[in-house]
Amino acid sequence: MEINFILNGKGVKVKTHPLRRLLDVLREDFDLSGVKEGCGEGECGACAVLVDGELALSCITPVGSVEGTSVVTIEGYRETAKYRALEEAFSATGAVQCGFCTPGFIIAAESLLSKTPRPTPNEIREAISGNLCRCTGYSGIVEGIKRASERGEGLW
Ligand code: FES
Ligand code: FES
Repeated sequence: MEINFILNGKGVKVKTHPLRRLLDVLREDFDLSGVKEGCGEGECGACAVLVDGELALSCITPVGSVEGTSVVTIEGYRETAKYRALEEAFSATGAVQCGFCTPGFIIAAESLLSKTPRPTPNEIREAISGNLCRCTGYSGIVEGIKRASERGEGLW
């Protein structure tokens, strides 16, 4: 089956089984290796992408379900001023160690800030509750998202 969607701002088509995981299509067919596979079961957030602006876990998303939507991965999001604000903030608060989980946290942060530009620490914790980090602990990540929300004036 041919599936058409927008990927990081460009129209793409892929001929594949509609039940194939979006994660595999992104990594194998489009070389988008920023989308990580952690648990493969919808429980760690490493594979998060935005589908029509909403956070989606690509390991449990069949590619057929993104027909006609706009999908953004960390590679596309990296081109934005919002990404740069989050990157600066994560670096300032020590939110990144090995970096494996970071794309997922950045996508979760964007999903939160697009709806709640000035979140409380509790709202941030709630928004990242589906993301696992094995390295840093979460306080630097919560601080990083808070810092980006405060300094990213006009971005969200
Ligand atoms: S790899 Fe998708 S949620 Fe863990
Ligand atoms: S920085 Fe290593 S898993 Fe989060």
